[in-house]
Amino acid sequence: MTKRIAVLTSGGDAPGMNAAIRAVVRCGVHEGWEVFGVRNGYKGLMEGDILQLGPRDVGGIIQLGGTILGSARAPEFKEVAGREKALAQLRQREIDALVVIGGNGSQTGANALYEMGFPVVGVASTIDNDLYGSDITIGVDTALNIALEAIDRLKTTASSHRRAFLVEVMGRDSGYLALMAGIAGGAEAILIPEVPTTPEQVAREIHAAYERGKLHGLIVVAEGAYDADELLAYFKEHHPELGFEIRATTLGHVQRGGAPGAFDRLLATRLGAGAVKAIAEGNYGVLVGSKATEIIATPYAEIVGKKKPLDMRMVELANVLTQ
Ligand code: F6P
Repeated sequence: MTKRIAVLTSGGDAPGMNAAIRAVVRCGVHEGWEVFGVRNGYKGLMEGDILQLGPRDVGGIIQLGGTILGSARAPEFKEVAGREKALAQLRQREIDALVVIGGNGSQTGANALYEMGFPVVGVASTIDNDLYGSDITIGVDTALNIALEAIDRLKTTASSHRRAFLVEVMGRDSGYLALMAGIAGGAEAILIPEVPTTPEQVAREIHAAYERGKLHGLIVVAEGAYDADELLAYFKEHHPELGFEIRATTLGHVQRGGAPGAFDRLLATRLGAGAVKAIAEGNYGVLVGSKATEIIATPYAEIVGKKKPLDMRMVELANVLTQ
C-alpha cells in the first residue's frame, strides 16, 4: 500500500542528520511511498511547514553538517494543545507515519505523539550520546573528533609554555563526550557529572603531574560537571600551588558544526534505513538505534582460516541509495 511518511529533525542538530534524512527519503521512495520533510522540527510540524521530498531534493547533502530541514526547540509541543495542532497538520496531509530524528527531548515528544495514537518512529541522534536504546548516536563520533583535535592542539601549546588547560566540552548532563575525548586525548584529569570530583582533587592530581615532570596538564571538563571559566577563577584564587600556569577554553557549538565523518554518515544512513524498515513492518513507537559494542575475546580456533564476510545488507542498501 502506498504510504505517506514525514520526517523531521528536532532539538540540537548533529553531524549526520542530513545523511539520515537522505536515507529516509530514498528508502521510503524505494518502497513506493511519498515522503515529506517537516521544516524546523516540532515547531514547523505545528505550523504545517511541510514539503514533499524526492530523491533529487536530498542529493549532495550526505557530507553536509547541520540539517537541511532546520531544527528548533519547541516548548509548545510539550503541551497537549501543541501536539493536537501537530496531529491536525499530519491528518490534514494524510500522513501515515512520522520519523523523528533527534535526541532525548525530541524522542520524549515523539513518544507523547505516539501515545496520542499517531504512528511514530524515532532515530537516535545527539552528540551527547545519552539516549537509552542506542550504544552510539548520530553525531557523537564527529563531535568527539572535533573535541579531540582541539585537545591535541591545546596540548602542543600547553607543553611549549608548561601550562595546564581546562577544556570544556558539551554533553549536557552526560559525561560521555568528555570521558571519551579525555581518554583519547591523553588528558591528565577528566571531570564528568557521573563521578563527582572536587576542585581540590583535581588540583592535587595536576600538581602531582607537574611534580612528575609533565610539560602540560590537560583537564577535560564536561559542561554538566563544571563551568571551565568558573573553575579557572577558583583555581587561580585558591590553588596557586598547581605549578602549571592555567588557562581555560570552552569548545561550545564548534563540536556540533561541520561535516560528518565517515562513521556518522554510515550510522545515520543505516538508522534512516532502519526507520523506513520499522514503518514497513508496522513497528511504531520505537527508537531506531545501534547496539552491541562490547569488547570480546574469541578463541583462535574459531577465527583462524576464516574470512569475515561483507555485510550483504549494506550492498543492498547501497543499491537503494543510488537513486
Ligand atoms: O544536546 C546537544 C547539545 O549540544 C548539548 O550538548 C548542549 O548542552 C546543548 O545541546 C546546547 O543547546 P543549544 O544549542 O540550544 O545552546
